[in-house]
Amino acid sequence: EQVDVDPASYDAGEHDSFMHKEMQEQPAAADRVLRGRLDERFGTARLGGLNMDARETRAIRRVKILGCGSAYYVGQMGAALIEELARIPADAEAASEFRYRNPIIEPDTLYVAVSQSGETLDTLLAVQEIRRKGGRVIGLVNVVGSAIARECDGGIYLHAGPEVAVASTKALTNMFIGFSLLALQLGRVRDLSIADGKRLIAGLTRLPDQIQAILDREDELAEVARTLAGAESLFFVGRVRGFPVAREGAQKFKEISYRHAEAYQTSELKHGPLALISEAVPTVALVPSDELTDRNVGALHEIAARRGPLVVITHEDVDLGDVAALRIDVPRNERELDPILLTVPLQLLAYHAALHLGHDIDKPRNLAKSVTVE
Ligand code: AGP
Repeated sequence: EQVDVDPASYDAGEHDSFMHKEMQEQPAAADRVLRGRLDERFGTARLGGLNMDARETRAIRRVKILGCGSAYYVGQMGAALIEELARIPADAEAASEFRYRNPIIEPDTLYVAVSQSGETLDTLLAVQEIRRKGGRVIGLVNVVGSAIARECDGGIYLHAGPEVAVASTKALTNMFIGFSLLALQLGRVRDLSIADGKRLIAGLTRLPDQIQAILDREDELAEVARTLAGAESLFFVGRVRGFPVAREGAQKFKEISYRHAEAYQTSELKHGPLALISEAVPTVALVPSDELTDRNVGALHEIAARRGPLVVITHEDVDLGDVAALRIDVPRNERELDPILLTVPLQLLAYHAALHLGHDIDKPRNLAKSVTVE
């Protein structure tokens, strides 16, 4: 059985689809997930719903994040945030696989279930398995009172508002912000300095306007999307912080444009998939301004040398040299928060490619908004 939100009970207003409306709602949704949760004086987050005191929070030795599909990819972004800011080993895993490998559940691991609907059966069953074995699970969930939210020991509601389109956008953005808040709170009871805490709070506060600035460039992104829509197969590549962004970008593109889109670590191209690069196979590359920029630009040369068309999502200060590429500059924030600003243009690319191809944006074939089967 698969449950769908009934679009008839909502209204897309002047938008051609709910996906478009929901993308445009992201700045307001981002504001809502932050509201009342930033403690500027102590440079930390205020997350009362976790139901953990400082002593319990300090005792955490590992964080394991579970979600499906795009929620899993944002979970990977969240794991990176937790490792960087709180220095706690963290990773994300597909909730659909978790139960089947007889996972070791440990009392000093914090388990985090992430879900827009709160009804995804694979994620719910993972939560139940952990709790049955005595583990502590918190939820990052959008739908209040949903099955996963009820099953968890505590959590962070995402306040993105109802999401109707199968292709998730605003809920994912708020998941990323939710993970940033969690990482900040975990970090500040450990070794993250007050100065770094304040730096991140300032960064989080800038996000809604920066997301808006990307949405305002929709026409430019639509033009780029039309060049990609003609390809049967595409690569999305990124490294470290950029790799889950590439996975999410490829997922969105697949879901609604029905094109084969494969995510790869940029560093792994030379270990195999470079053989597929040709003028028929474009690559969307994430090249933020960070410690890996030079290496990423090197990989772009490898692609260009094989006549692979390139779309590069990057920052203004990045020098791409003589690589021929369609370039999209996104605003800079604190580098830990870069992934979400790199993600937003990929939503618009997928949306405009699908629109150009004449697909049903909100209800792509074979997919349901909420998957309540195993
Ligand atoms: C996102 O665009 C997808 N439709 C899908 O991967 C989704 O994120 C996944 O099924 C998980 O859903 P949930 O967040 O409601 O648990």
